[in-house]
Parts: sequence; C-alpha cells; structure tokens
Amino acid sequence: MKKGKEESAGSLPAHIAIIMDGNGRWAKKRLLPRGAGHRAGMNRMIALAEHAFTRGVKYVTAFALSTENLSRPKEELDGLFSLFREYFEKSANTMREKGVSLKVIGDLSLLPEDIRTLVSEGEAHTAGGTVGTLILAIGYGGRQDILSAVNEAVRRGKEVTQEEFSALLSTGGIPDPDLLIRTGRELRISNFLLWQSAYTELYFTETLFPDFSEKELDRALAAYAKRERRFGKV
Ligand code: IPE
Ligand code: IPE
Ligand code: MG
Repeated sequence: MKKGKEESAGSLPAHIAIIMDGNGRWAKKRLLPRGAGHRAGMNRMIALAEHAFTRGVKYVTAFALSTENLSRPKEELDGLFSLFREYFEKSANTMREKGVSLKVIGDLSLLPEDIRTLVSEGEAHTAGGTVGTLILAIGYGGRQDILSAVNEAVRRGKEVTQEEFSALLSTGGIPDPDLLIRTGRELRISNFLLWQSAYTELYFTETLFPDFSEKELDRALAAYAKRERRFGKV
C-alpha cells in the first residue's frame, strides 16, 4: 500500500484498473449481438494495455467478468468463455514476445475447466515479462476476494496487519491501483477491487468500452497527473 505525498501532480500511475463496461450497449446500438460487443471489447482491452505499457504503466488490471456476471444467460457466457480461450491461446505468444506477463485473478473454479488449464499455461508461458503485467479479472468479486483472504487468515490462526492482509488477496504482491477507469456511464464500482482501491483515483467516462481509444486513455492519464493524492494528510 502506498502512502505519503510522493504520488502528487505530474506523476504516472504505476497501476491502472479498468472496468470495461458498455460492450452490450455498444453492440445494441449497432444492431449486433452482445457477443460482438464483447469481442470488440477484448480487442480494445489488449490494445489499451499495450498502449499503457508504452507510456510506462507497469500493471493493467481489466475487469472482464464479475462473479455476479456468471448469472447471465448461458449463450452470452459461452461467447465470453470462447473469447477467453482465444485470448489465452493467441495472446500468450504475442505478449511473451512483447515482454508482457499475463495474470488472472478471480475464482477460476467457477469457469469451465479447460479455461483454468489455458490460464495456467498462459501465465507460465509469459512469466518474467518485464515490460508490464496484464491482469485479467474473470469470475472476480471484490467481496469474495476479501472473504477468501479473511478465511485464509483465520486458518493461519493469527491476527494480520494491513500489509499481511493485502498479501493474502488475489492481487498479493501487486501494488494497489493508482487510477481506476470505468467506461460505459455507470458511476459505481460493481464489486471490483474493493480493498485495493481505498485510495485509488477514479475516472468515469460515458464512452462505451469498445469505443475507448488510446487517445482517451491518454486523457485519463493527463487527468490523473493533475490530481493531488493526499491519503488523508493535509
Ligand atoms: C461489460 O459489458 C462486460 C461484462 C460485464 C461481461 P456489459 O456486458 O456489462 O455491457 P452493458 O453494460 O450491457 O452495455
Ligand atoms: C461490471 O459491469 C463488471 C464488468 C465490467 C466485468 P456490470 O455491467 O456487470 O455492472 P453493473 O451490473 O452495471 O453494476
Ligand atoms: Mg454492464
């Protein structure tokens, strides 16, 4: 957890979290099936992460599927699962070449088993990339993340500090997000990184995720640079 005033104006976020929302509405506007919006969104997500890494950002965490999203219709979920399969099969090689590490957070036991295998292979294949880390949150819920860390702490039978607790979360070892972007107009967190975003700067935009461009990401970075992060101090 970062503390202190070193994160003030002019700095670059080391870690950007993105709630990639608005895929369905993007597709609807074009009279396309929702799945077409998810496909456009996945492509956007990869391009934006690569762009962020060229700017010097080290971690990008993209919220692609929440625990709650798992109660959507089977057809939509099957489409999303196929996209995740494609992502791990195709992107693992490109990302490795680009020096990007892939990581997944979320409860993978909620997803089809072959995806779990692809995730492990993709993570192993890209391990050690030094350019940046792209963390995909699938089957992820902030409350579930906190609860599983609490249960782990209880199993260990000893009280924990904030730092020790952070390490027990699925994001253990990754710094808290500096900037959280939510596309698609809604002004809420929808169970994303609840503990981790205690002091994260928030950026909301009406742009639907498949329309969120590199240019707009640069605008979000510029907006972040102007923020004064006080962490409760004066
Ligand atoms: C975000 O887009 C991606 C997922 C939640 C899987 P949505 O599918 O929520 O898109 P909208 O909000 O319906 O437009
Ligand atoms: C948040 O979007 C989750 C993801 C983008 C993966 P939702 O579309 O599920 O959020 P709500 O339902 O509008 O809060
Ligand atoms: Mg939505």
